[in-house]
Amino acid sequence: MKKLSIEPIKNGPLKIVNQTKETLKDILFYDCQAMNLAKTNLICRCGRSNTQPFCDGTHIKYKFTSQNDLEEEILQVYDSKSVTVTFNRSICAGSENCVKKFPDIYTSGSNDWINLEKGTIEDIIASVEDCPSGALSYTLNKNDDCQLEDCQKEKIDIIKHGPIQVRGPINIKIEKWSSFANKTKFTLCRCGNSQNKPFCDYSHANLKDDSYTF
Ligand code: FES
Repeated sequence: MKKLSIEPIKNGPLKIVNQTKETLKDILFYDCQAMNLAKTNLICRCGRSNTQPFCDGTHIKYKFTSQNDLEEEILQVYDSKSVTVTFNRSICAGSENCVKKFPDIYTSGSNDWINLEKGTIEDIIASVEDCPSGALSYTLNKNDDCQLEDCQKEKIDIIKHGPIQVRGPINIKIEKWSSFANKTKFTLCRCGNSQNKPFCDYSHANLKDDSYTF
């Protein structure tokens, strides 16, 4: 049985339910600090709670809507002889791990920003596995099977001024997954402004309003 379930509540917070009888430790982190995971945990996703990371009901005052407004996914596909890498911009959380750790392969600020021929196959695979949002995925061209392994250990990282990074086998009540999404590795919006809710799409990078507390 999976230990955890996540339910995005309509126009409200994310409900994380611990399905075991114990208080779980070392699974939930806020700003890198471990927190106990109680039976039910309501995590703010409107970006304005005064008791971050938990919901305090402020979403009602701001008329938060959890509607997904994405009209079309932004997908880019890069091919080389040995590997195909797919980038789904609509679920990219902007961690920039790829650009910082593998600058030969990934060049920010350019439309044609992935240069597969500049990296080894090991580096390309490592960069995809290091992507916290699952926006990058790959297929080895020799057998067409996606080689990305499922993440086995549950971890929920609530990033200060950023999204919730989720890893591991967790039941999540989501109506529709994005294309090429990794169901054991994804990031959820907590600023309330993503077009692709409940997923993070890096909209938090453009918020200037002081009323946000996330
Ligand atoms: S979702 Fe309830 S206060 Fe943010």
